[in-house]
Amino acid sequence: MKSNADNHGDDNDSKDVSLFESIVDDISTKGYSVRDNALEPVLLDKLNDRIKLMSAAKFKRAGVGRHDDHTVKDLVRTDEISWIEGDCDAEAAWIGWAESLQAYVNRRLFLGLFSFESHFAHYAPGDFYKKHQDSFKGEANRVLSIVVYLNKDWLPDSGGELLIYTADAGQSPVKVTPAYGTVAIFLSEEFPHEVLPSRRDRFSIAGWFRVNSSNFDRIDPPK
Ligand code: OGA
Ligand code: MN
Repeated sequence: MKSNADNHGDDNDSKDVSLFESIVDDISTKGYSVRDNALEPVLLDKLNDRIKLMSAAKFKRAGVGRHDDHTVKDLVRTDEISWIEGDCDAEAAWIGWAESLQAYVNRRLFLGLFSFESHFAHYAPGDFYKKHQDSFKGEANRVLSIVVYLNKDWLPDSGGELLIYTADAGQSPVKVTPAYGTVAIFLSEEFPHEVLPSRRDRFSIAGWFRVNSSNFDRIDPPK
């Protein structure tokens, strides 16, 4: 299997396998998985260095699909994003890790994940992303959503939690603290979710594994 990660020694591979197995187990029983300290420190630190060194000019206001006008956007989400193209060591290592996860999930759950897209995200103090879904039944090609957090020393009053709404009636949403190395993964069509207003700068990577929904007049995914 192709992996661009140059730090994937045997040790990390076996750690990844037990992590991937826990994630697969969570997804098949609950539809989502939240794991602390999921990425190995070397990869995390690379991604953290990368996002911290990226110039503010690389980040652009994120869109909200078909409602992509400014008034609506301001009401729905206020974060800034920068798509990951894999053109530096850190990004290549991240894509390599995501591809290993994709292959593992396909082998175990037969989800037929076909491609992966991801972006860095920055929430400045006050930024939020209101309750939304990453994909809707019928139009779906985003199958699995993943978020990795890059925030050291996140405090309980720093806000910015991810809330994942489960279907269990009367159950409060799953609350995820955006702490360094935590990974949240969920079935894109099944879980509405939101990001509560952050009280400090909040850094993350959000990504989506997609199925191939090409037909003869539309080649998809576009990248
Ligand atoms: C998204 C998203 C969650 C988070 O970018 O679609 O839901 O915790 N992000 O950053
Ligand atoms: Mn989302």
